[in-house]
Amino acid sequence: MSTHSEVKRVTTHTLQWMKDRGEKISMLTAYDFSMAKILDDAGIDVLLVGDSASNVMAGHETTLPITLDQMIYHAQSVIRACLRCLVIVDMPFGSYQGNSKEALFSAIRIMKEAGAHGIKLEGGEEVCESIKRIVGAGVPVMGHLGLTPQSIYKFGTYSVRAKQEEEAEILLHNARMLQDAGCFSIVLEKIPASLGAEVAKELKIPIIGIGAGMHVDGQVLVMHDLLGITKDFSPRFLRRYLNLYDEISDATKRYIKDVKDKDFPNEKEQY
Ligand code: KIV
Repeated sequence: MSTHSEVKRVTTHTLQWMKDRGEKISMLTAYDFSMAKILDDAGIDVLLVGDSASNVMAGHETTLPITLDQMIYHAQSVIRACLRCLVIVDMPFGSYQGNSKEALFSAIRIMKEAGAHGIKLEGGEEVCESIKRIVGAGVPVMGHLGLTPQSIYKFGTYSVRAKQEEEAEILLHNARMLQDAGCFSIVLEKIPASLGAEVAKELKIPIIGIGAGMHVDGQVLVMHDLLGITKDFSPRFLRRYLNLYDEISDATKRYIKDVKDKDFPNEKEQY
């Protein structure tokens, strides 16, 4: 059996191929050229230009303030870096909730101005008309259910979603609706692992989890969390692979000391 590493550019079809063969999909967020280049070169399958840029890049408390223009700027930088991975861009809050025409217009701007390979939007049944219209225009759409950060003021907390039977049923129903509307994949955020497993088993399209357990078809994390650039965010689902906050802080302190001590630059570091 061949593996996806033999495939040159990852496409939505590659992801389906991976699900069908039981190969897990790796996905991370990225917002700028330099980091996207490292992640693409390392072999990541999918990069998401997430609206979490609002938090980790711009310092906002929620994802709501980031604009379509700002998302397009981040997406352009990421796209320029990527030779192999599939690049999906989040539709920001306010760019698609109005009506399906507005949603299509926003999706087309992301595709044309950033050169994205597809878009992601949050919600279930209520966004299906928009999804059909966007997919109808030839744009791949990824759904997002469970904890949907753009609705934080409706739910009030970032706690685990769909723990109760009734909410789990609604989530499963919405997942089916998204698949029927034409989504090529769905992100499930912060839900019980058993529900993640059920959705991934029932649906044909790849299900990518963030805090949705081990039985979904792939995993996504916010790059800043994985690298330990963020310090205070420690949900149970997060595995940190580095502690960059401390490493960068330490390097900065050493640089400051060298400058103050007149140790930098030395003879060899000047013209
Ligand atoms: O914006 C984002 O980073 C996301 C991921 C958490 C899936 O939507």
